[in-house]
Amino acid sequence: MTSPADRITELRQTLLDHNHRYYVLAEPSISDREYDALLEELSTLEAAHPEFDDPDSPTQRVGGTPIDGFVTRPHAVPMISLANSYNLEDVMAYHQRTCKLLGNQSFRYVVEPKIDGVAVSLRYENGQLVQALSRGDGREGDDLTQNIRTLRSIPLRLRTDSPPEILEVRGEVYMTRDGFQTLNLERQTAGLNVFANPRNAAAGSLKLLDARLVAQRPLDAIWYGIGETRGISFETHLELLETLKRFGFRTPAKIWTCESADELEHALLELQNEKQTFPFEMDGAVIKVNERKYYDELGSTAKSPRWAVAYKYEPEQAETRLLDITVQVGRTGVLTPVAELEPVLVSGSTVSRATLHNWEEMERKDIRIGDSVIIEKAGEIIPAVVRVLLEKRPADARALPPPTECPACGGPVHRREGEVAWRCENPACPAKGLSRLKHFVSRRCMDIDNVGEELLKVLLTEGLIREPADLYHLAEHREQLLTLERMAEKSVENLLTGIENSKDRDLWRILHALGIPQVGERTAQSLEEHFDSLDALAAANEETLTAIADIGPIVARSIISFFALPENQQHIDDLRETGVNLTRKTKVAPSTESPLSGKTVVITGTLPTLSRDEAKDLLRKLGANVTGSVSSKTDILLAGEDAGSKLAKAQKLGVPVWDETKLREQI
Ligand code: IVH
Repeated sequence: MTSPADRITELRQTLLDHNHRYYVLAEPSISDREYDALLEELSTLEAAHPEFDDPDSPTQRVGGTPIDGFVTRPHAVPMISLANSYNLEDVMAYHQRTCKLLGNQSFRYVVEPKIDGVAVSLRYENGQLVQALSRGDGREGDDLTQNIRTLRSIPLRLRTDSPPEILEVRGEVYMTRDGFQTLNLERQTAGLNVFANPRNAAAGSLKLLDARLVAQRPLDAIWYGIGETRGISFETHLELLETLKRFGFRTPAKIWTCESADELEHALLELQNEKQTFPFEMDGAVIKVNERKYYDELGSTAKSPRWAVAYKYEPEQAETRLLDITVQVGRTGVLTPVAELEPVLVSGSTVSRATLHNWEEMERKDIRIGDSVIIEKAGEIIPAVVRVLLEKRPADARALPPPTECPACGGPVHRREGEVAWRCENPACPAKGLSRLKHFVSRRCMDIDNVGEELLKVLLTEGLIREPADLYHLAEHREQLLTLERMAEKSVENLLTGIENSKDRDLWRILHALGIPQVGERTAQSLEEHFDSLDALAAANEETLTAIADIGPIVARSIISFFALPENQQHIDDLRETGVNLTRKTKVAPSTESPLSGKTVVITGTLPTLSRDEAKDLLRKLGANVTGSVSSKTDILLAGEDAGSKLAKAQKLGVPVWDETKLREQI
């Protein structure tokens, strides 16, 4: 019989290994559920045996008591910055200078992505994380230790049996583009100020005084440098990266080593081409001399070393005209101003609309209808209006004042305490209803075929529906449906079949479809793993909810308040009465026998019969993780027609490529 002490040690080590596999190597070997079960077992044992408390236990990542402010502390070695170059000529001039300084000694360069995040320095003493500082002014930074400890990809202890006495590891904390979009969407729905870009979101998150909130932010980090060291040294930058990786850090996923100007140019172009395949924002490349023995010889200026240089990409911007500002009414009544633009090509796609976020933001940037504006689009991020070209402002340009009434229903608008958003407070606002219905039927919710925005508008004006549950009563109004414009026998049939089929969806879809503030697709999926019915979720208290890995107090409270509202209870009862499935369906557990269990899969191109979402759901059911970009961590590329750069990359990396038929064989 294993003693509690031994089991605790064993569980901690097992969980540490799984954490490392999941967050650092992106190669999980167990399902989230199995992981949660182990974590739960450890929490229970730790609660029963406080004598074995360990601040570095995997259960301690959720953050402790909020603090009043950050303490500033000195950096043992200053955190200096890099000199910038903006074109290949500048880079070549840097190369010439380096060659000249090093005479005829041979050297190589390492090229890495320049991550657009927040610089952080971690200090490990005898292998233990003791401090995390922001860059600050380079000489001293804010002590972010409590917040940084919540990032699961950062080791609290170095993964080595013989740690150096002192090792300071430096790198960049960032938010992925996906994480940023989800966070902003949630904030917008909740009426909170949105972040302008992933870097601000990462910086804002690290500046939160409550580490429990930081733990809920989708933060990640990549490490590429060192500060003070004692008891360890590195001959080359490559060796440094290798060692950091061995110690349990995420290091740049792709780097280039270059021996000549040509190779350098080639690497920089290749990196720029692959910019979109990185899940985070990068604003350029960093070129570093590989041999560290030359660093002293090369020296540094007051601000930056001569052994490295940054090559910055200009963000893709375009000039266009702001034709109009429209106002969107969201599901919760949040009013969002939207810029209607003269269509313009940026980052490979035509942009004709951009969010203006809210009135405060619009006033700060002094944006007026008729203005010439610069818009920016970074990767897949929603296009934004960066600034106005005041010199081109026409005499009749006009600002759009905050609404005094809802543009859709004329109802009262209000700004809640602590929020920047204006909201329509009319519970019966048809635009809110339309937004709710659009969300309900959308692909990542109930996925109802043949129901688009136009049809929903017609059904609303005809008084055939008001709330989602009404959709399921449409079959009783077949005659009236047939009188609607463009609704022949066949289309009514298709509509009703689509609605009927949606009664039997997975539980997470209805959880997402209900529009519970703070509950997006991912949270809905985690909830489904822990509750076998909507009723079980509705009965859960804050403690039960926050025990779930990715649910913090804010989300928990939002869920509880949602179910406490009588009108929401009524909606749920109405849905139940129509026969919509509100329970978890028995699933074939993603068993370890599934050849896809724990595998990382990327989808590209058009598949013959499955849509992207269908393929994603199917893969998830088979236990796979679906990610966006091909890397050495990818196990399988599922490719269809017109597969482009992802296919080429997979082939180059030797990643197995499957087609839909091969996937179907696994079912
Ligand atoms: S090396 C002596 N490598 O960019 C400074 N920096 O503009 C050594 N950054 O201060 C920094 N990605 O905050 C380095 N792969 C990378 C980087 C990187 C992003 C940041 C870092 C640096 C700033 C300079």
